[in-house]
Amino acid sequence: MFESRSGIFFIAGVGFFALAFVASGLVPILMYADKYPEKKAIEMVNRNILIQFRDLQTRYPEPFKKYIGELTPENEAAKCAETIRYGLKVYTGEGCWHCHSQFVRPVSREMERWGPVSKSWEYQNELQRPVMFGTRRVGPDLIREGGRRSNDWHAAHFFKPQSLAPDSVMPEYKWFFEGSPLKPNDRGLALITYMQWLGSWMPNYFTQYKSQGQAISEGDQ
Ligand code: HEC
Repeated sequence: MFESRSGIFFIAGVGFFALAFVASGLVPILMYADKYPEKKAIEMVNRNILIQFRDLQTRYPEPFKKYIGELTPENEAAKCAETIRYGLKVYTGEGCWHCHSQFVRPVSREMERWGPVSKSWEYQNELQRPVMFGTRRVGPDLIREGGRRSNDWHAAHFFKPQSLAPDSVMPEYKWFFEGSPLKPNDRGLALITYMQWLGSWMPNYFTQYKSQGQAISEGDQ
């Protein structure tokens, strides 16, 4: 086998593919399966994202009531998880990942622009399936987007990106609204919640951009 050319090609093609699959696929999965069991969506709802979710209800009471309902201390976590899940669907379906990555890489001082380098545990939950790492960066990385902008900033930006970033090539998403940026529909509300969720597991969520005052410590998550 090792003498023939086809044998060498066989090993190079199939053999190394199998080796790579085992080494970078199976081994990490088996190594970390016990250490970091995959979290459910509801386990990913913490104080940070709930503050944003309640703010969304306060800012857009009518659409919020129509599409999500009224929040109570008992139901808010479940409703929030459901809304984030829908937001991920919209993000996937609209192809936002063509232009946005969700992974801060340990190169080119990316952390100075987007915050702490991404770690594998951050992706070990139901709301990261399928993972939206992305490969292209026409727009900025979004894995630390949460807490960076206010809910109404996102609404205005989705309605007409150029109203906030004049040279932006991001398309307008008018179909996330019933008429004006003051009336986001189910997709708009879900996508805003999803944007605010990204990075909500970081202890410096509210303070990383020094925009708002409420931060949580890691122990609270
Ligand atoms: C054609 C490429 C393109 C597509 C598609 C696109 N974006 Fe963008 N996006 C950009 C660019 C460029 C910017 C930077 C300029 C700006 O703020 O508009 C940006 C900025 C953003 C920002 C602001 C980040 C910040 O804090 O400054 C958010 C949030 C965002 N995009 C979310 C989305 C979502 C969600 C979708 C899908 C519904 C989407 N984008 C689709 C190119 C794109």
